[in-house]
Amino acid sequence: PRKIIIDTDPGQDDAVAILLALGSPEDITVLGITAVAGNVPLALTEKNARIVCELAGKPDTKVFAGCDAPMKRALVTAEHVHGKTGLDGPVMPEPTMALTAGHAVDFIIETLRAEPAGTVTLCPLGPLTNIGVAFEKAPDIIARVQEIVLMGGAYFEVGNITPAAEFNIYVDPEAADIVFKSGIKITVMPLDVTHKALTTAARVDAFRALGTALGKMVAEWTDFFERFDKEKYGSLGAPLHDPCVIAYLIKPELFQGRFVNVEIETISELTLGMTVADWWGVTDRAPNATFMSEIDADGFFALLTERIGRL
Ligand code: BDR
Ligand code: CA
Repeated sequence: PRKIIIDTDPGQDDAVAILLALGSPEDITVLGITAVAGNVPLALTEKNARIVCELAGKPDTKVFAGCDAPMKRALVTAEHVHGKTGLDGPVMPEPTMALTAGHAVDFIIETLRAEPAGTVTLCPLGPLTNIGVAFEKAPDIIARVQEIVLMGGAYFEVGNITPAAEFNIYVDPEAADIVFKSGIKITVMPLDVTHKALTTAARVDAFRALGTALGKMVAEWTDFFERFDKEKYGSLGAPLHDPCVIAYLIKPELFQGRFVNVEIETISELTLGMTVADWWGVTDRAPNATFMSEIDADGFFALLTERIGRL
């Protein structure tokens, strides 16, 4: 199995991504979950991460609290999508498992130094603050990362928090800039992919039809999470962004994209956090990321339902 660190700001879609990873032990070993401020403040994202591990029946998973604000800016949150708790929808139990002692950034650094070089994949599902801070504090770890597979950015679908930017990149563009300039192998799941992974009624019914407490929970998160896109855009469902990252690790053949140059806008007020992808190869800037654009959405939801059904 591939060893991963999930860096996350749960978030209903982050929660489903965590479940997919924890339900796939033959493919993935979760070394730890590092929480970051994003959809909601850190005190809620770290708590939500623990709730999800307990719901999955995996209370031994290490969960660390990380950065409570972006590297250089004030935090922007997304309660308008995820609700006040970040995991609005069903009634949730209070977590009983404790946070693991230590800062998420130190866990990332120590793990990358302790594991053999090139054997740990980072999976960021929120703003890239913890990763950016870790790379700045311990540049020696950069060469030890196997790969980064992240949810963030957009090309054809452009922005969901501003007209130009996707939320995760917009919240901490300086951290994203560090990541995209790191030289590490990067795979990006942008809105171009995730907007094709919609929670239609039939797909949500399949979660419910599992007949498990967790299947019901996922369906209820989805019911809440969908209302934003349905009301605002008349969509069939909500884009299930973050699980695309984990699904890629298990079944990369579900996705297609291009290896291109991607740079992050960190200066312009108008386009702050834009992922400027050289999709058409019009510059001589060296490609640094595989920017995905296509997904087999039915295959993706089938995988999700099967793996969540195991927990
Ligand atoms: C991203 O922002 C968050 O709201 C979601 O959890 C996802 O990671 C989508 O733009
Ligand atoms: Ca997220």
